[in-house]
Amino acid sequence: KRAIKVALLGAGSVGSQVARLLLEQADEYERRVGTRLELIGISVRNPDAKRDVDLPKELFTTDAETLIVSADIVVELMGGINPARELVTLALESGADVVTANKALLAHHGAELFELAERVGAQLYYEAAVGGAIPIIRPLRENLGGDRVERILGIVNGTTNYILDRMHTRGDSFDESLRIATELGYAEADPTADIEGYDAQQKASILASIAFHTKVPVDSVYREGITKVSIDEIEDAKRAGYVVKLLAICERIPGNNGEKDQVSARVYPALVPETHPLASVHGGNNAIFVEAKAAGSLMFYGAGAGGVETASAVLGDLVAAARRHLLGGPGSGESMDADLPILPVEEIVTSY
Ligand code: NDP
Ligand code: HSE
Repeated sequence: KRAIKVALLGAGSVGSQVARLLLEQADEYERRVGTRLELIGISVRNPDAKRDVDLPKELFTTDAETLIVSADIVVELMGGINPARELVTLALESGADVVTANKALLAHHGAELFELAERVGAQLYYEAAVGGAIPIIRPLRENLGGDRVERILGIVNGTTNYILDRMHTRGDSFDESLRIATELGYAEADPTADIEGYDAQQKASILASIAFHTKVPVDSVYREGITKVSIDEIEDAKRAGYVVKLLAICERIPGNNGEKDQVSARVYPALVPETHPLASVHGGNNAIFVEAKAAGSLMFYGAGAGGVETASAVLGDLVAAARRHLLGGPGSGESMDADLPILPVEEIVTSY
């Protein structure tokens, strides 16, 4: 079978880890997918920039368009709206499937891109756009697709959780905590999006749209960031038994007297009792509670930001896209690895 050609747009915190793992684990992916995933190029602004990860120089280009039209799957990890919007559009129009982690692009232009994907028979995958490594998009869309979601309550921004957590647990300053969150690769290229709540607002819009099967425009999500939260307020909250967390709350409000239900979505720094599980979400982690009519309460927890952690979700989408490409259709790609030995139960217990 011919190799599946993968073009990568962006080699920053996330993109460089995706490229590294794609190259290092090429044989493993070939076994899983049934054919080779060939990284045909990486488009960046500055091919000579020093990067966290050593990647073959010959892969780098500034010519994203030429790269895209030669690819079967395009992975967009540049961030921002322009030129990501034009390039994702070009990729879909060229018949490629697209994997993206770009919540800003999806929150503002998702409708147009999904409509285009449907029209041309392509797929747009975006598991990494909310919750970093945490599987939340597919669970909401697919696993809970037959249930009725009533409420989502979540910590969906790793940078602000990291900052608030350091201020609470160590008494560190806002600026110092933001500096470290940026060094750790959690923050957006412009951290204003994190600290002013825009990033969480975009994620709330995406989550609410999927959960409530309706379009929840990003501007209809109330937004307040954490820049006005002082260390004194955090100390006061602590003394009273609370932790300050930036929460995204998306709710279905039942209509009265046969009127339609309504949706409310909001992002703001909230006081969380320290006994509540959300109070124990530390560092760059995220947690998303979903309350559904039949399933009850579910909690999704884990690394909400970070290059290699987010690369896990991107690569999961890439494998799904590659399986679909190979099967030629919306195949679920659920084939199992054939050649892995199964451990006897005793060994699993002892090695655990
Ligand atoms: P970075 O800012 O670290 O990297 C962006 C990459 O895109 C760089 O390689 C840059 O090139 C390239 N790039 C940016 N603009 C252009 C342009 N105009 N033309 C060509 N190349 C361009 O971003 P991240 O890796 O942190 O994030 C990537 C995406 O993933 C974003 O959408 C972000 O929101 C999302 N995301 C990030 C997470 C994280 O923890 N970091 C977690 C979940 C999602 P160059 O290197 O030459 O400057
Ligand atoms: N800047 C984002 C955050 C990256 O801190 O959560 C993950 O989407």
